[in-house]
Amino acid sequence: MTNITTYRPHWVREDFIDFIGEKIHPTWALKRVKAEVIKIQAVSPDFFKIQLRPNRNFKGRLFQAGQHIAVTVALDGIHHQRHYSIVTILTNGDILIAVRQQGKVSRALSLMQLGAVIELSQAQGNFTLSDSDRPLLFLASGSGITAIYSLLQKAVVQSLEPIDLIYFTRDNAFHAELKTLALMHPNFEYHHFNTIEHAQHLNQTLLRKRVPDFEKREIYACGSASMMKAALRIVAKFDLQPHFHTEYFQLITDKKVKAQPVEFLRSQQVFQAESNLLESAEQAGLKPAHGCRRGICNTCSCTKVSGSVRNLLTGELDHAHNTQIKLCISQAVSPVVINL
Ligand code: FES
Repeated sequence: MTNITTYRPHWVREDFIDFIGEKIHPTWALKRVKAEVIKIQAVSPDFFKIQLRPNRNFKGRLFQAGQHIAVTVALDGIHHQRHYSIVTILTNGDILIAVRQQGKVSRALSLMQLGAVIELSQAQGNFTLSDSDRPLLFLASGSGITAIYSLLQKAVVQSLEPIDLIYFTRDNAFHAELKTLALMHPNFEYHHFNTIEHAQHLNQTLLRKRVPDFEKREIYACGSASMMKAALRIVAKFDLQPHFHTEYFQLITDKKVKAQPVEFLRSQQVFQAESNLLESAEQAGLKPAHGCRRGICNTCSCTKVSGSVRNLLTGELDHAHNTQIKLCISQAVSPVVINL
């Protein structure tokens, strides 16, 4: 029986109030965070800084450097969500993100009209500066520079310890800003590798040459799967795990593995999976719950009843029955049954 003291009739639904509010101002909402696209600026031919003006529901004061936001855009009537690192929050409260034109959502964002309205989450994530007073080492490649640049801006004002950034990139995104930071802060050394001009990847020899005391550093890494793998190898070899902080940006599936049949048990759907399980399910027209698509938020967690999958972040193989997996970071390496 309904408890008469706690019952609150929903005379007017929140979405109805938002619908009316939108008529007054397109970013007005009772609780939801909505933002207007204020400015789009190319930092390289396919990489764009996007300035967003959020409504009053966004709690910018709680933002910590290195965190990200989920951006939701409607494409062909379907809502898509992607996470982007916040480059910075400007003094007027505007949010700056950087978006590489990869995938549907990023492409749509980079082509948006000024004044368009999108939906955001609050800032979230644990890729933030720790309290350690060790010197700092940042490793970045490609779009991973967004999160690292956010951390760096904070690090150079709060630490007098040596700070090094090793940055692998095909273009000059953020290069001018980083050079300026290095000029302004003598304890910050910037190591830039343009991989188009000169093939170079992260390895122990390079690290030792550029940052001879790297084992004594607090290390932050964000970038391509190949750079992250190389970083993880070095970290494991020198037992640096307690001082290693990561944000994964790109997940690469093993192309040598053939497409595998995947069964969603409860919904009685079977599809072929070539990429990660979330993407493969979506390509087959299914809509599993998801959020970050990077193994962070747990929204896509589910039970693998049988079969083998590879964890795309760690490379580990899971052959066991009835284990929890995250669809967005799992690749099927055998036929798989999932309790969904
Ligand atoms: S969608 Fe966030 S963990 Fe998979």
